[in-house]
Amino acid sequence: MLLTINGADYEVEAPEDMPLLWVLRDLLDIKGPKFGCGVAACGSCTVLVDGEPVRSCSYPASAVEGEVTTIEGIAQGDVLHRVQEAWIEHNVPQCGYCQSGQILAAVALLEQTPRPTDEDIDLAMTNLCRCGTYPRIRAAIKTASGQEG
Ligand code: FES
Ligand code: FES
Repeated sequence: MLLTINGADYEVEAPEDMPLLWVLRDLLDIKGPKFGCGVAACGSCTVLVDGEPVRSCSYPASAVEGEVTTIEGIAQGDVLHRVQEAWIEHNVPQCGYCQSGQILAAVALLEQTPRPTDEDIDLAMTNLCRCGTYPRIRAAIKTASGQEG
């Protein structure tokens, strides 16, 4: 199958039912998306498919239509995405394990809703964080959206 990931094309030989996360991490060595629960519950494996957040542990790579974006693909060269900048400003990560998925979920939210309310954030940000960084995530999203964070 042919996959476009972070602007590059990859021809991948994989079983039809292989989850996208396996293809990314094990076949292509793209290690930003993390394995957590494996059942689409935690969001640590979140990537974007044509801008939509997808839990790649439970999404067959063969079902992908459109471009895949991982955490490795959201900066422009040395220029970080504004969500990444806000994450640094608010010192969001603790252990960091969930954060690539959190950031991609936030990027997707801000594409859909440029100035999200607390309720918009609660509805969109269903990724789990065992370190409890939720208040900082909320503040960083507010900052990235140009609101007081
Ligand atoms: S590892 Fe995919 S949602 Fe938890
Ligand atoms: S920062 Fe540790 S799980 Fe979220």
